[in-house]
Amino acid sequence: MCSSLSVLAQDAQVSLQSPEDSVVISRHIYGHFAEHLGRSIYDGLYVGPDSDIPNTDGVRNDIIQALKDIQIPNLRWPGGCFADTYHWKDGIGPQEDRPTIVNTWWGGVTEDNSFGTHNFLNLCEELGAEPYLAGNVGSGEVKELSDWVQYVNHDGVSPMAKLRRENGREKPWNVKYWGVGNEMWGCGGNMTPEFYANLYRQYATFMGDWNNSGGLFRIASGASEDDYHWTEVLMRDIPKHLIEGVALHSYSVIEWNDKGPAVEFSEDQYFKTMTKALRMEELINKHLEIMDKYDPEHEVALVVDEWGGWYNVEEGTNPGFLYQQNTMRDAMIAGATLNIFNNHADRVKMANLAQTVNVLQAVALTKEEKMLLTPTYHVMRMYTVHHDATLIPVELNGVNYTYNGKSLPAISVSASKSEEGKIHISLVNIDSKKTNTVEINLGDLEAGKMDGEILSSANLQDHNTFDDPGNITPKEFKDFKIKNGTIEVTLPPFSVVMLSEK
Ligand code: AHR
Repeated sequence: MCSSLSVLAQDAQVSLQSPEDSVVISRHIYGHFAEHLGRSIYDGLYVGPDSDIPNTDGVRNDIIQALKDIQIPNLRWPGGCFADTYHWKDGIGPQEDRPTIVNTWWGGVTEDNSFGTHNFLNLCEELGAEPYLAGNVGSGEVKELSDWVQYVNHDGVSPMAKLRRENGREKPWNVKYWGVGNEMWGCGGNMTPEFYANLYRQYATFMGDWNNSGGLFRIASGASEDDYHWTEVLMRDIPKHLIEGVALHSYSVIEWNDKGPAVEFSEDQYFKTMTKALRMEELINKHLEIMDKYDPEHEVALVVDEWGGWYNVEEGTNPGFLYQQNTMRDAMIAGATLNIFNNHADRVKMANLAQTVNVLQAVALTKEEKMLLTPTYHVMRMYTVHHDATLIPVELNGVNYTYNGKSLPAISVSASKSEEGKIHISLVNIDSKKTNTVEINLGDLEAGKMDGEILSSANLQDHNTFDDPGNITPKEFKDFKIKNGTIEVTLPPFSVVMLSEK
């Protein structure tokens, strides 16, 4: 009686379930994406070895450290739309021999190819991150992509391994993750799914010739949002031995022709953004339903290799550079989306936030020698405890965030158990005004003492600036009580909380 009364006293109830199967939350769900787009690579990651900005082989040291601190598990490169215009041989060998190219997708700028395959793969080594190379299918050739695999992966005597050695790299990098084109329904060539599925089969076959490094993980360019037909055709037409993952792209954009500002947004715009962000749950469920029809054994993974908020660019910046600020709204997108991915960790094996530095929902922004970490970065850092941990399934009896007669689930939650047996629970309250209380029933799981950490702020529009980079940072959180196998938590409006067993 007492306990049911106390349950009703809370706005939402969560019960942690004992895991039946041991599903591991792949750390690759916390992956990132860096495209040759605006100031993402040049200026963002790469300033060149002669820069006054402290760097390691041309890559900014502050960014390297920041990415190491969030244990970046993988990095997707070189696109995006750019990938299907990129010819990798332009970016190897002595700088003076590298041609300049025009980035036709992003601002029409000319670049000198000074950041190429070696730079990228060496950076991944430095970061301890798995590289995820996106191959050119749209304007490339089968041989070109097969040669790229050979160049980076072949350890023996072969033409591309020889070329790699001539360019100063003896050992292969053994790249496992490969995208076979990007957005083939759009910038990748405006293809039909039937045409692309056939092309995919051809490309994937010849990439497999260099499958000598423990196996490639080939990812088919996937659907945009709710294009379920795209997924259906790929799953139907591509034989299982040629595919390890199928992608999905979904951005939290209000309207493509009216995206709204990144900072001075209204509550109406916030609500719409969160509606799009939370839709990820439905998209994943429906794409998985189709995949399961053709792959009941669950051999093919779902890879959400582009996600995040997309707004109007900051005033005075090149519209083709997609540079936007990052507020508490972005922290809400990140916290809630990562909870969704965690809860689908049995099938979602990788995801890539778009994009790492200076583009879209970035984790870091740079301005000459200055760098700031965004609210999204802090969420990524708080959630590192879920990397490769065992998923604890959750049941949520939630409460709604209501705005203008419409409602969304206010609370989102996911939980995991680390290798050392420690429980971690991440909670998000997206409500713009209301504090919500949550009772977490631990069930059979016994949790010892817990630490709490919170990311919150006074206004949804709050963000970090180059003059005040510490405006939003995680703080210690104490507004929870553990008693009789339950935890009662009080979540302020638009906050992300991580509870960690000590
Ligand atoms: O992330 C920016 C762009 O969004 C990517 O290049 C493309 O794949 C998507 O449309």
